[in-house]
Amino acid sequence: MSEKKRLIGAISAGTTTVKFCVFRSQETKVIAEHEVKISSHCPQEGWIEQDPLEIINAVKTCIQKVVEQLGSESKKIIAVGVTNQRETTIVWDKLTGHAFYNAIVWSDIRTDSTVDIILSKVPDNNPHYFKQTCGLPISPYFSAFKLKWLLHYSKDIKSAVRHGRCLFGTVDTWIIWNLTGGVHDGIHITDVTNASRTFLMNINTLNWDPMLLHLFNINESVLPEIKSSSEYYGNIHESCPLSGVPITGIVGNQQAALIGHNCLKEGEAKNTYRSGCFLLYNTGYSKVFSSHGLVTTVAYKFGRQPPVYALEGSVAVAGAAIKWLKNNMGFIKDVHDTESLAKEVFNTGDVYFVPAFKGLYAPYWRKEARGIICGLTAFSTKHHIVRAALEAVCFQTRDILEAMHQDCGIPLNKLMTDGKLSQNTLLMQLQADISGVPVFRSQNEDMAPLGAAIVAAQAEGIEAWDLYQEGREVVPNDTFLPTSTGDERDARYTKWKMAVQRSLGWAVS
Ligand code: G3P
Repeated sequence: MSEKKRLIGAISAGTTTVKFCVFRSQETKVIAEHEVKISSHCPQEGWIEQDPLEIINAVKTCIQKVVEQLGSESKKIIAVGVTNQRETTIVWDKLTGHAFYNAIVWSDIRTDSTVDIILSKVPDNNPHYFKQTCGLPISPYFSAFKLKWLLHYSKDIKSAVRHGRCLFGTVDTWIIWNLTGGVHDGIHITDVTNASRTFLMNINTLNWDPMLLHLFNINESVLPEIKSSSEYYGNIHESCPLSGVPITGIVGNQQAALIGHNCLKEGEAKNTYRSGCFLLYNTGYSKVFSSHGLVTTVAYKFGRQPPVYALEGSVAVAGAAIKWLKNNMGFIKDVHDTESLAKEVFNTGDVYFVPAFKGLYAPYWRKEARGIICGLTAFSTKHHIVRAALEAVCFQTRDILEAMHQDCGIPLNKLMTDGKLSQNTLLMQLQADISGVPVFRSQNEDMAPLGAAIVAAQAEGIEAWDLYQEGREVVPNDTFLPTSTGDERDARYTKWKMAVQRSLGWAVS
């Protein structure tokens, strides 16, 4: 088959949607796709769960629909990659295939008390104590805390572990186990990027870390095998659509977006704006351990090549603040109205909104922080608050850019962006104005599927994607240049920091 005609599939299982996209090798445009929404349940304040069965059924539906769209062309799909919401935790019975509990979603904060237990075991309650081991701060965000909670909560899970029947996985692991046969010898694997978000993988050895397993009292038998992001793992089972097609790529969705943006050189960075916001900065073959609250993570590992690392700044609430304005406050009818509403005023009227609904992630890592809106006057309207919500996304991004600058010594000179919220043109301009950095919005709204397709097509035996082909450059859809002066930016940023201090000080213990 000629190179041009080879097709690559990408399963992209995000927090709000699952989709299957197909690319022609070496091309960045999606030629066929199908998307299904995924529901989330909040049984208690701060708890967020999803039904693992809904996720895998959505994956199969999306593949089936795309196969129907493509007709006989679908036979040209030579490999499939998987990209996924990270940290979300699922445990299931390997004999029945049934999940013991709903998936605990990455943004769920039920494990606050587990975090306190772990903090009480480390000198000075230092949240960064394990940074050199796993790259991460102690936070309910990461999978190990969720898994420990599940092991404690459910007698069935405890007994399944004792009987060697319990399997743990992030969403990639769950999807691949099911697609490769499930109870009929499904393969139980993850990749280094997803494993690097569990708090259980040693960032230096890329293996499960015995000391961390001991700390969380986790039996290694429940954990998947850690693979590279790009290699042959197995074929899709005969009971699933696209049966027989090899799965050759796995990569967490934020790392996938980094690859999709072609940020493959040290010093390149992207920011994805969705319900949360995730800024990844490629640090090449060296691990940079942040002194300013950023996470050290594996960016990708192509087969037997050495791993490439990234510094990550994760923001828990970005687009989720807009949803809150719609669902809880009734300020907007549709999230798409934010741009027009915010444009009705020239500025926020000095209103600042820190949407720390679930504490604050990078660079603060303070789980007790809470949301705050300050600077209100009798003249403030919902337009000012909506605009302040958009600015909050940009200020949180600036917090991360500042931390990256301090850790790496070099300021970023451009920011590549994607994600649903990046479609908001006002937000992109505000980002350029607040950070003082040109913003390049990508052509694909979501770069993660492209990243997953690239890793799958890179794998040994597939080799349908030459990563370093001459001139491969991601051409942005549009560019936003800063229109503010340095003094204006700094004055407003100082105010933002004051608002953050109030939010951090809200729940004083
Ligand atoms: O770390 C969480 C991240 O992977 C969430 O992804 O789908 O909400 O953008 P998503």
